[in-house]
Amino acid sequence: MSKRYQYDVIIVGGGAAGMTLALQLPDRLSIALLAKSPHDQSSTYYAQGGVSAVLEGNDSIALHVEDTLNAGAGLCDPEIVRQVAETGPEMIDWLAGLGMPFTRDPDEQSSSGYHLTREGGHSRRRVVHAADATGKALQNTLLAHVAERTNIDRFEHEVAIDLITEQGRCIGLYAYNRENHRVSVFKGRKIALATGGASKVYLYTSNPDGSTGDGIAMAWRAGCRVANMEFMQFHPTCLYHPEAKSFLISEALRGEGARLKLPDGKRFMPRFDERAELAPRDIVARAIDHEMKRLGIDCVYLDISHKSRAFIKSHFPTIYERCLHYDIDITREPIPVVPAAHYTCGGVMIDAHGCTDIDHLYAIGEVSYSGLHGANRMASNSLLECLAFGHAAARHIEQSIDAVPMPGRIAPWDESQVTDSDEEVVVAHNWDELRRFMWDYVGIVRTNKRLERALHRCELLKSEINDYYGNFRVTGDLLELRNLVVVAELIIRSAMARHESRGLHYTLDYPDLLPEPKITVLEPEPRGKQTEEDPVRLIGR
Ligand code: FAD
Ligand code: SIN
Repeated sequence: MSKRYQYDVIIVGGGAAGMTLALQLPDRLSIALLAKSPHDQSSTYYAQGGVSAVLEGNDSIALHVEDTLNAGAGLCDPEIVRQVAETGPEMIDWLAGLGMPFTRDPDEQSSSGYHLTREGGHSRRRVVHAADATGKALQNTLLAHVAERTNIDRFEHEVAIDLITEQGRCIGLYAYNRENHRVSVFKGRKIALATGGASKVYLYTSNPDGSTGDGIAMAWRAGCRVANMEFMQFHPTCLYHPEAKSFLISEALRGEGARLKLPDGKRFMPRFDERAELAPRDIVARAIDHEMKRLGIDCVYLDISHKSRAFIKSHFPTIYERCLHYDIDITREPIPVVPAAHYTCGGVMIDAHGCTDIDHLYAIGEVSYSGLHGANRMASNSLLECLAFGHAAARHIEQSIDAVPMPGRIAPWDESQVTDSDEEVVVAHNWDELRRFMWDYVGIVRTNKRLERALHRCELLKSEINDYYGNFRVTGDLLELRNLVVVAELIIRSAMARHESRGLHYTLDYPDLLPEPKITVLEPEPRGKQTEEDPVRLIGR
């Protein structure tokens, strides 16, 4: 029997964005917090470098804004950038109050008391962190407080399938339980998507397995616009080792002086940018890709061995231990690294409060497009965005929820027309095929021809997957695949619409920058004036 649940607020996603929202809402509201994976399987838990915020006298909101706008290559929304930068110090205080174990400055030279690191694009040291495992500390801190709140019910292994809307308003969702295989109805007055990004659409990624763009695909199917999906960020330095799945080597190493080298030991970044290893990520990832292709090599090397053993072990204990596990002693030898898909800059379009196009539906964190990141996200601005929009959405919900009635009865999930799958291999095969062609054709360097090929394959897969979805009972893998193919198409169509190279989108067919920066907005069919062949609109900022 499927179950029915009813809450004031339903939050889908148990990472930094979802838990911040849950904790920032008043105790009087009943809250359901859904997560499809265990709590250590979110991008938040994986985060290493830290959270950017203006905390020292030699820094300012204006500088944080300026650095973010520069990294974003003309496509950030300056008002949103300012709003987020201004919220930073308050949110760091809030986290410290919750007991977040930020690393203190051992020399006691900083006025905040925190040790701050520097990362690509930042003109100041402004990244507050918990050694090199900031995300784990953040996730654990937030979770401990969520567990104490009696108004918050946590649901793990619960995969949201689709949003339910009625007359332009979101009233709930269907969710599939991975353990008992039942589909339940969650009804709510306010619904928030905090489902993270979509980097799993690529073969190689730094992200956990659950980063399958579910929230973006659900919002799109429900009628929300999405923006800037062509700007997928590739992190320059993931560990290159056959057994090391998705392990990131934090940008904070470069912030502390690590150098990128070719197999012959020569540095190459100064040839590409005067900021060398601390240039924004798009530039560093592209330079590595270029050198790997030019020399036909499998990886480049990141070397921090010139720093003292004690420094490396105290600043990067997790990275040191993990590399040692693979017989790489980073205090003595360079680390083999390659770029991998890391962050989804685009997403569900929201306003300054996290509101989407659909009434009572919010999107916060990596699932969203807020205007903060533009064409390239600056390092450590993402956790800050989760905190800032968790806070903003909570204020908006608190002020508006009393006027929103609980929705009426929602029809149960209908399984009368489907049977159990007889060919699971189709799902596994399509997962692999999709991620492989996205890596090969829609990666760091693009061309028109590769994008056309990718779109063609995507359309074939989409019809096969939809057919499968229509005939068989849902499974976790099928639901994620159904979302991945939607997100892949959104990325390809956005990339095809951009006839220039800007930030993370680089194409050999349009290597130059257009004079007027525009964001890419995709409108789902029922809302828009676009035809099916051209659902893409470019809007100037
Ligand atoms: P996530 O933390 O990814 O959480 C998503 C949640 O949604 C999970 O609980 C998941 O189970 C749930 N979910 C997804 N789909 C469904 C569904 N259909 N139904 C139910 N639940 C669902 N950013 C920084 O600012 N600083 C850093 O140092 C940093 N380091 C990083 C290192 C790594 C290796 C990675 C991968 C990312 C890093 N980032 C960093 C980026 C940052 O961690 C993420 O952007 C951020 O944590 C996203 O938080 P979120 O709450 O939006 O999503
Ligand atoms: C890192 O530590 O390099 C990741 C930082 C980020 O993605 O913001």
